[in-house]
Amino acid sequence: VRTRVAIIGAGPAGLLLSHLLDRQGIESVVIDARGREEIETTIRAGILEQGTVEILTETGASDRVRTAGQRHEGIELRFEGEGHRVDFAGTVGRAVWLYPQHEVLKDLVAARLAAGQDLRFHVTAERVEDAGTDRPRIIAKDADGHRVEIEAEVVVGADGSRSVAREAVTGSYGGYFREYPFAWFGILCEAPPSAGELIYSNSPDGFALISQRSPEVQRMYFQCDPDADTGAYSEAQLWDILQSRVPGTTLKEGRIFQRDVLRFRSFVAHEMRRGRVVIVGDAAHTVPPTGAKGMNLAVADVVLLTDALRALLHDGDETLFDAFPDTARERIWKAQHFSWWMTNMLHLQPGAGDFDRLRQIGELRTVVESGAGRAYLAEAYTGWPLDGAR
Ligand code: DHB
Repeated sequence: VRTRVAIIGAGPAGLLLSHLLDRQGIESVVIDARGREEIETTIRAGILEQGTVEILTETGASDRVRTAGQRHEGIELRFEGEGHRVDFAGTVGRAVWLYPQHEVLKDLVAARLAAGQDLRFHVTAERVEDAGTDRPRIIAKDADGHRVEIEAEVVVGADGSRSVAREAVTGSYGGYFREYPFAWFGILCEAPPSAGELIYSNSPDGFALISQRSPEVQRMYFQCDPDADTGAYSEAQLWDILQSRVPGTTLKEGRIFQRDVLRFRSFVAHEMRRGRVVIVGDAAHTVPPTGAKGMNLAVADVVLLTDALRALLHDGDETLFDAFPDTARERIWKAQHFSWWMTNMLHLQPGAGDFDRLRQIGELRTVVESGAGRAYLAEAYTGWPLDGAR
């Protein structure tokens, strides 16, 4: 197979890139080891920055986000049993949308297939070769074990945190790395929302996040041990834990129909490009979930990369392509900081003493009692402006 841009991974980054390239008249092939069903049903993130929503709607990738998604103009930070609203609309004039990632993926898959995109499910990339030439290749296997080779002018690894493209770029699995001594226990339940907006709660027993999915389904998380066993708790125990971590609110309970544990890590690859091979999204960086930056950061990478590829492939101008890693890195480290900061401000560190807990409350007060503090949170949460490809 030959194409202009070969993309590994049909997640938000890979599918959106292929969509934006198509609008520039640039052909691409997208492969993914998973099937369509799995991609469209796996529960992941839920919050889209305003810029992400603008890209999806203005480029015709999704209208549903505006109709099925819910606009949120603030969040609540809760500590010492009291809620403090951070008003996004009032401080920075921006908002976020609650719209699950798998819904974004359904929209993108439908748009790609409607456009006649060469989108191949159950094709597993094994490695990327010839990064240093202007004809890099993906070596893959299809569902029957047959070898598939895709040769392109540029190969993009949008293949998530266990990327196979990363090795061709960094020469190793090297990167800047931070692990956290806790995780999130996530549940989905059949219940109405317990509050109008998301609640991020710092409690003496640890963090909880009361999120939502729809009028009928809610998503909630509580801080747990990284080795927590999802089967070890009864529903009643899960509700006890969640209730105890949002003092001041009575959660609306309902049947819990999904449980999962999310590990916390921060990662930035040492390199994002080698020759004609680039990595984007989770393949290049991971953030802990607090603050919901992961998918939005992948979208920002792809918007930048589209401009770089347009200049490279239409005009033979390599300037933006060469600059892509450094340009992308600026936003990546801002998002790394924000995710790290929200995580550390809100979670209970194992072994934390009174000093640590009281300092954290001081930090939370510094944020909510100051216009500048609230504005920083609002600006980062709703997303720094995205310039580029529409
Ligand atoms: C969700 C996840 C997040 O990490 C977050 O900060 C907000 C919401 C969610 O899955 O709903």
